[in-house]
Amino acid sequence: MKFKNLELLNFRNYDNLKLNFDDHLNLIYGNNGEGKTNIVEALFLLAYTKSFRTNNDKNLIMFDQDNLRVKASVLNDKFLNNYMITINKEEKKVFINETNYKRLSDYISKINIVLFNRNDLNLIKESPNIRRKNINIDISGFNNTYLKQITIYNKIIKQRNSYLKLLYLNGNMSKDYLDILTNKLIDTGINIYNIRKDYINKINESINKYYNLITNDESSLTIKYTSEFSESKTKLMTKIKQSLSKELILNKTLYGIHHDDFVFYLNGKNIKEFGSEGQQKNAIISYKLAIINYLKNMNINPIFILDDMFSELDNEKINNILKLIDNDLQIFITTTEIDNINNNIKDNAKKIRIHNGTVEVD
Ligand SMILES: Nc1ncnc2c1ncn2[C@@H]1O[C@H](COP(=O)(O)OP(=O)(O)OP(=O)(O)O)[C@@H](O)[C@H]1O
Ligand SMILES: [Mg+2]
Repeated sequence: MKFKNLELLNFRNYDNLKLNFDDHLNLIYGNNGEGKTNIVEALFLLAYTKSFRTNNDKNLIMFDQDNLRVKASVLNDKFLNNYMITINKEEKKVFINETNYKRLSDYISKINIVLFNRNDLNLIKESPNIRRKNINIDISGFNNTYLKQITIYNKIIKQRNSYLKLLYLNGNMSKDYLDILTNKLIDTGINIYNIRKDYINKINESINKYYNLITNDESSLTIKYTSEFSESKTKLMTKIKQSLSKELILNKTLYGIHHDDFVFYLNGKNIKEFGSEGQQKNAIISYKLAIINYLKNMNINPIFILDDMFSELDNEKINNILKLIDNDLQIFITTTEIDNINNNIKDNAKKIRIHNGTVEVD
């Protein structure tokens, strides 16, 4: 899968930009604050319909403008498709080959991007809530069903919590509807559990290999997935029934995959508590390479974006990483320090210099 080009209209600091890309390596360089990350943010937006650094779509619109448009042609298996997103103050619209997709969940997962940037460290450093969000984004990047299940699950939780409140205030009400919701909660929850479990298992098949190749050591890295829904449906039913009185008082669904966690262990120890900054970064990049490996095994050739690589990793590691990536993957690297990059990489790359929202291609 490859981005052939990109067209930005009033996106961040680009009023009108047209770019063509190399099928393999694109090196986007320039000083701080010139607009490097903005370019890869636009690519990510086309894939996920959301930015990786703001939840507010309006922030993506150029200052003092009312709407933005991002367009790109993406080549996948000899097929060229045109993707487009428009955002104005009221709404966001997504198109593939001019057809407007009314539901974002039908559009997402078609462009497969694996992104590495500094925020990814949150997957280790932050709370389980942030870890779940990150994993949700990673899985929905290629699995559309998963995203839909998550949306349904969140709706069930909302409905169930408000029904618990109603029941608490009105003890005579029938509990039949609660039973229906509990059933749905368990079924959807188990579906999500199975997808997450399978995903983490697949990641664990290669993450350690990548860690060892990047660091040149023999440590062991694994991700441990924990969930209250790792039990059978009958057991879950009983557990939930037993906690009903507590749930009523708290108006809260107490069991579910909304408490899942994904913890990185290096040599048997939680890397969040015991790992160094460097070890945490290496763990994350190994995770990203393991995702690419997993996707390739499913015949998906993702696009790999490395945002601000050199402030995160040293030159030797980056060379190790690039050596691990097949020539048939498209890669975007943003950096302030083009001088640090090995000549053999530079010579093969399309070099895109960014200066204050304008672009020069060498
Ligand atoms: N909505 C917007 N409208 C216009 N300009 C914006 C908007 N949002 C951000 N910018 C500008 O974009 C620039 C930041 O772009 P970006 O984050 O891509 O920089 P960068 O080249 O990646 O920098 P660094 O090397 O520090 O990561 C800033 O100058 C900022 O003012
Ligand atoms: Mg940047």
